[in-house]
Amino acid sequence: MFGRRVVVVGAGYVGLTTAACLASLGHRVVCADVDAVKIERLRRAEVGIREAGLADLVAEGLAARRLSFVVGAGIALKQLEADDGPAEVVFLCVPTPMGVGGVADLTAVEAVIEGIRDDLPAGAVVVNKSTVPVGTAARTGEMLGRPDIAVVSNPEFLREGSAVEDFLKPDRVVVGSDDPDAAALVAALFTRLGAPAVLTDAASAEMVKYAANCFLAMKLSYVNAMAELCERLGADIHAVTEGIGYDRRIGQAFLDPGPGWGGSCLPKDTHALLQVADSADFEFRLLRATIDTNTRQFQRIVDKVRTAVTGSRSGSLARRRLALFGLTFKAGTDDVRDSPALRVAALLRQAGAELAGHDPALGPAAPGIDPALLTVCADPYEAARGADAVVVLTEWAEYRILDWSRLAELVGTAIVVDTRNLLDPAVVGLAGFAWSGVGAKQPALP
Ligand code: UGA
Repeated sequence: MFGRRVVVVGAGYVGLTTAACLASLGHRVVCADVDAVKIERLRRAEVGIREAGLADLVAEGLAARRLSFVVGAGIALKQLEADDGPAEVVFLCVPTPMGVGGVADLTAVEAVIEGIRDDLPAGAVVVNKSTVPVGTAARTGEMLGRPDIAVVSNPEFLREGSAVEDFLKPDRVVVGSDDPDAAALVAALFTRLGAPAVLTDAASAEMVKYAANCFLAMKLSYVNAMAELCERLGADIHAVTEGIGYDRRIGQAFLDPGPGWGGSCLPKDTHALLQVADSADFEFRLLRATIDTNTRQFQRIVDKVRTAVTGSRSGSLARRRLALFGLTFKAGTDDVRDSPALRVAALLRQAGAELAGHDPALGPAAPGIDPALLTVCADPYEAARGADAVVVLTEWAEYRILDWSRLAELVGTAIVVDTRNLLDPAVVGLAGFAWSGVGAKQPALP
């Protein structure tokens, strides 16, 4: 006996995770995407994204016949109806990239609604999981022009790299609609997860997503600013974040300093909310400062590298060779969209440095990386050959256990700038490297 009959439109990391996890919860799910090649692969349980546990769930869903993949949302509705009955819930999980002026680009959402408007079974519920501006649920309802179809906002809070775990063990489920019955039906899909459910109106649910991501971004900008102050005053950021993190009102999570925050969500959502605030005639200074602090952080890392390599804040990086360790926006993913590592790389390149990079998740022909910016090497030792400094930009655990003595022999100068405070300064110090981190105390000389 299946749970609900569900169509998921979009097989990106949100859509595919939603589809596979809902199938694992006992629902019958047809997942649609416009990319025929991707769908063909998914039918063979080949998951193109690096997401722990996702491939297993897809394979299980396919084998149990609770999960299937088709090209096109309209086809998904027809197939589900023919196999098991009309769709009860249709999830929209399509991208909402940053459009002109930072505002969310809703072209993909609009195209899907246009395409399925006339095919939606009577009484179906349309759920928006994509991050969309407040008011989109209402606009979706108007675009649908179907009084029998309720629109629900159910923002997702998945992190890339741990999407399955975040879906199956959520801190909360947020469901908003101006039709309380529709909201209750959608919330019931997740009952087995045992998470607190926040049932509210559509606009508030849409706002929750922005409020969460912008708060997280603010937390990180605060930590990075605090790290700079620690450096100036001789304090250690990790002792400070541990000290504040025990306060349950603050919490230990999401307090690691770094080269700045990035990825496909936080930059997009902070800019979008700022844009929305501007258009509501509200000067959201705190959010603007959050973004500006982050932009400044990229430059601060460049200054750190400059000082480490030339011994002066005004030294030249022209023709200096730098090895960049880690290019993805965080460890555990192969995603380089809006990666802080690449933002820093671009500034280093502008300053005239020659860059060789390495990332455990990327091959030499890494898509999304301009070969004019940097050469991607297959192994970190190759990237480090002759370098004036190694710069650690993503917190891959692999870098901790490199043979740092061998690296010391390969590099031109044994300097490492560790923007994630990933390495053990004592270990790399013993290998002969001069280490500098972010907001962290320099190790005592032996
Ligand atoms: C973020 C949110 O964490 C998710 O809750 C949300 O669902 C998702 O956006 C989304 O809107 O889809 P994600 O972009 O996958 O998830 O990545 P995060 O783990 O939040 O990391 C974002 C950036 O912050 C990365 O560049 C990461 O390196 C940086 N970060 C994170 C730090 O510098 N320090 C930390 O302590 C944590």
